[in-house]
Amino acid sequence: MFKQIGSITLILVFLFVTLGIALAEEKGNSRKGKYLFRKSCRTCHTEGAAAKDLSPVSKTQAEWEKVFTALDTLQCKEEWAKLEATDSDDIYAYLHGHAFDSPSPAKCK
Ligand code: HEC
Repeated sequence: MFKQIGSITLILVFLFVTLGIALAEEKGNSRKGKYLFRKSCRTCHTEGAAAKDLSPVSKTQAEWEKVFTALDTLQCKEEWAKLEATDSDDIYAYLHGHAFDSPSPAKCK
């Protein structure tokens, strides 16, 4: 009887820990975000193009957070409207995850 309660408790603890780790992970895939950023953003946001040069290190994490809470105020909001919802999560993961003051700032553009 007590042995069973012990194993059930163990199983429950394991489930909660696994769930906790899964939920703590940042949403969005940074690798995919890097690809999407190069494909969908750098066409304009590069030296000599229509808009200013942008890369993850152009901003701090707080500044990227601010950008992503107000995407519909950007001058290029029509470009964003063409993306899937998950695409902007991925781009966020890339830009925010490698921002100027992040633990792993992007080294090259
Ligand atoms: C068709 C060209 C074009 C595309 C594609 C484009 N933008 Fe823009 N973006 C602009 C222009 C023009 C501005 C306003 C001028 C400026 O800030 O350089 C702007 C402004 C911005 C700004 C505000 C400026 C700042 O430094 O805060 C951010 C952030 C931004 N874009 C991010 C992005 C991201 C991320 C993507 C890809 C999802 C993207 N843009 C795609 C043209 C574009």
